[in-house]
Amino acid sequence: MAVQKRVVSIFFIQLVLLAVSGLNRVDGAGLRTGYYDESCPDAETIALKTIRKAISKDVTLAAALLRLHFHDCFVRGCEASVLLNATKEGDAEKDGFLNLSLRGFDVIDDVKSAIEKSCPGVVSCADILALAARDAVQLTGGLFWKVETGRRDGRISLSKEIDVNLPFSNFNITQLKQNFASKGLTKKDLVVLSGAHTIGSASCFTINTRLYNFTGRSDTDPALDPTFASELKKKCKPGGILPVFELDQGSSTISDAHFYKAVRQNRGLLISDAALLDDHVTRAYVKRQSTSATAGANFGRDFGKSMEKMGRIGVLTGNKGEIRQRCALVN
Ligand code: HEM
Repeated sequence: MAVQKRVVSIFFIQLVLLAVSGLNRVDGAGLRTGYYDESCPDAETIALKTIRKAISKDVTLAAALLRLHFHDCFVRGCEASVLLNATKEGDAEKDGFLNLSLRGFDVIDDVKSAIEKSCPGVVSCADILALAARDAVQLTGGLFWKVETGRRDGRISLSKEIDVNLPFSNFNITQLKQNFASKGLTKKDLVVLSGAHTIGSASCFTINTRLYNFTGRSDTDPALDPTFASELKKKCKPGGILPVFELDQGSSTISDAHFYKAVRQNRGLLISDAALLDDHVTRAYVKRQSTSATAGANFGRDFGKSMEKMGRIGVLTGNKGEIRQRCALVN
């Protein structure tokens, strides 16, 4: 009897541990679409209007906004820690090396100020990041998904947490899969969300090793199309930092499935993009999205689903966290 009781209680403890270990991943409890329908009915319209204005002046901001949400969610969850400034305790996420090329903070601040005028203290910066990512994609290509809201903002941002949470551009497929799995995301999410590289750019600095010192022997990554590599080398010199290059050559201001065509032709800019050809699931997806008969099929739907999943990582809801007054500062 005593043994039976012990077995039951161990089983119970295991169940609780399992539930708790899942909490910081893609749980999303407490989020729903239309969360602000009553408390701030114009929030989404105000966000869209502000973002449209910003993107109409500088289309490259769309990519910047999409990337901000990703970098937010992968470090401490989608709770706007990426927006916080350094404190006297130390550097913040935005000061970390992998985040130095993030842009679009001022657009998020503009959205926040505009929303605060209508409904002060109601809409979180974390939700604004999620809405901005969706609006950026919608405004550059028409892909649309309903964004779940109800996130609250965190109070901690540490630059030292960047490297252990964000994927590096020289990650191979195993490292990429591990990194995504650690956030509760699948291989399918990996290949679909990498499709975000349909817009935006990467710097000469980012691709320098791939072009000039791939294995430490002054070589170029053989997985990169040689003609493309020579074109890049004309503008990107050894040790160079600029210029920037389109992640999806010839289509970097339009959100569509064209990126997969580039990857299939070995013209994906990043090592991590090319790595999508090294796993059978991700390769099959790249192939399907780049074959003329099936190209683009369901990409919009897939992308929306994976973005929704990413947007649930480690969220703070209910009475956790706070609604920041200004996105760069805790209250
Ligand atoms: C799969 C792993 C990923 C890696 C290793 C990666 C890495 C990078 C790197 C190195 C850059 C260029 C940075 C620079 O040179 O300035 C970049 C740009 C970008 N990334 Fe990713 N990324 C990944 C996934 C994602 C995801 C999941 C999203 C969004 C859902 C995303 C959105 C973007 C966008 C939009 C840009 C262009 C930014 C701009 O033009 O300002 N990336 N990424």
